[in-house]
Amino acid sequence: MSKNITRDLTEVLQTEQKKYYPSKKILKNANVPDYEKTLKTANKDTVKFWEKAAEDLIWFKKWNKVLDKKNKPFYKWFVGGKCNLAYNALDRHIEEGKGNKLAIIWEDETGKTKKYTYQALYEEVNKMANALRGIGIKKGDRVAIYMPNIPEIAISMLACLKIGAMHSVVYAGFSAGALEGRIKDARAKILITADGSFRRGKIIDLKKIADEAVKKCKTIKKVIVVKNNQAKIKFNKRRDIWFHDFIKDQSIETKLTKMDAEDPAFVLYTSGTTSKPKGVVHVHGGYSVGVLRTIKWVFDLKGDEIFWCTADPGWITGHSYIIYGPLMAGVTTVMYEGVPDIPTPDRVWKIIEKYNVNVFYTAPTLIRAMMRYGLKWPKKHKMKSLRILGSVGEPINPEAWKWFYNHVGKRRCPIMDTWWQTETGMNMITPLPSAPLKAGSACKPFPGIIADVVDKNGKKVPAGKGGYLIIKNQWPSMIRTIYRNPKRYKKTYWSQVKNAYFTGDVAFKDSDGYFWIQGRTDDVLKIAGHRIGTAEVESAFVSHKSVVEAGVIGIPDNIKGEVIKAFVILKKNVKGTEALKKTLKKLVRKTLGPIAVIADIEFVEKLPKTRSGKIMRRVLKAKELGLPLGDTSSLV
Ligand code: WTA
Repeated sequence: MSKNITRDLTEVLQTEQKKYYPSKKILKNANVPDYEKTLKTANKDTVKFWEKAAEDLIWFKKWNKVLDKKNKPFYKWFVGGKCNLAYNALDRHIEEGKGNKLAIIWEDETGKTKKYTYQALYEEVNKMANALRGIGIKKGDRVAIYMPNIPEIAISMLACLKIGAMHSVVYAGFSAGALEGRIKDARAKILITADGSFRRGKIIDLKKIADEAVKKCKTIKKVIVVKNNQAKIKFNKRRDIWFHDFIKDQSIETKLTKMDAEDPAFVLYTSGTTSKPKGVVHVHGGYSVGVLRTIKWVFDLKGDEIFWCTADPGWITGHSYIIYGPLMAGVTTVMYEGVPDIPTPDRVWKIIEKYNVNVFYTAPTLIRAMMRYGLKWPKKHKMKSLRILGSVGEPINPEAWKWFYNHVGKRRCPIMDTWWQTETGMNMITPLPSAPLKAGSACKPFPGIIADVVDKNGKKVPAGKGGYLIIKNQWPSMIRTIYRNPKRYKKTYWSQVKNAYFTGDVAFKDSDGYFWIQGRTDDVLKIAGHRIGTAEVESAFVSHKSVVEAGVIGIPDNIKGEVIKAFVILKKNVKGTEALKKTLKKLVRKTLGPIAVIADIEFVEKLPKTRSGKIMRRVLKAKELGLPLGDTSSLV
């Protein structure tokens, strides 16, 4: 089992048992004032709990069965129900007379801003939906989206859902090769992209990357391009069309496609054990229910908040908590396209003050990066509007937790450390504002979720002992399948521990029942909160003619959480020079994108392997970090 080095288990158990209690004010306002009682009631009958949660949404037709377990593990929720995720995020608010309310506030790195009311967003989405229909996009078709954090990404995603098409958003930090692979797997019919994006003052030429990716994708008929920052781009007149021209003459009303609760809403690719990413499929009904209930309870939304989640829409956090969650809850969501320290290291705190952000949901890597700049920057800002803070993406080390609590939340704002995954769709292990907190613990499972820590035989381990994190029940926003690969779905998540969902994470529970997440078992890396597979990186290395084999591990990094160290076997007679290291680093970056940060490459003669030939990354890691080797019985 891997050990996450950002925290030492025994140290955490001894020092981080202090409880942080919510203030009277937080408690008085809380949507869920009695934490323990709510957990107890919900967990008595989790299916009933989720059925009740579904009543927060508008359904065109009510379901006749809440949870269908007939074809395990292909669980179905709200069977027979009719709904639409986009309807609950938009149309519903218009019908309820809230069209004038702000839906999106967007700002880019240069300071340019745009605002959309729910009415304005509704109209743009309808225009886009009509335009998509106009070029023949139908229910069930896949639309690839490769865009920066701009309002048009939300418009495009919502428009797909309105007509029943599935979107497949690919993070704009991925390379052409990664985009190409995802488009091909999803067999997407069109691609929506942008001319470029700003990053640290430089323009990233997204269109060029998109062009390269699409070259080999036969399914792509059209490329729609948002004019975002006037980057000079090449335009293929037969295939490309500007986004503004595409929607120009369209009606601001459209016919909404009523979906079955179990109809897929989107596919989102994420990294796993092999070099081929998994297309995680989420559906209209259950996903809406899980995301709306969690955002309302975890972040205590009443409907008039300004909500800022600093993720990117290209990841699940962006899907659920920049776009669908805030919009379903009818609040204002902030989108920021840029880095957090331009022009000064208080850009983030400035944005919070400028827009009176009430809920700020970010990642440990950002907090640690801000810590490095010193207290001077958050001290300049009172950030009085803040009420609740959130953390996601990787374990938050107690030191970062306390810094966030003291200097951003000014000891007023509880921190919701939310553990979850692309596959779970929603927050799974997380406090609620009324819960007592411990610095560095994700607290307990959300009401209606039963989680546990077990050994490899599925046996519960005692408090304080590490083991595999599993989920023992079903929940509405759970992954339905891996796109075009149901076998892999079954094998990855439902065959490791009997009758439980296997998360791939290691954790321990303390004697209060609080969960402490330790990180992944050894196949997935978290670099600055971005999920990337060791196998994907290894496959990039071996695509070089001089490389025979590569083994990749994550090593601790004070800011990014993890960075990559690679052990590479070269072909005979090839010299392991510094120049070759440079070339290989570049190659990986080109294959996967700039998120694949290679800290170090070591040329080796051999890699530790199992008898069946699998590289034992766990052994590489233990050696690298001077940790105990653990069970090496399968090592050759
Ligand atoms: C890790 C991101 C500790 C975990 C939402 C999980 C976390 C993986 C936390 C999923 C947290 C996410 N504490 N670890 N609060 N949140 N993780 O699919 O290892 O990008 O399995 O989803 O991130 O990453 P993904």
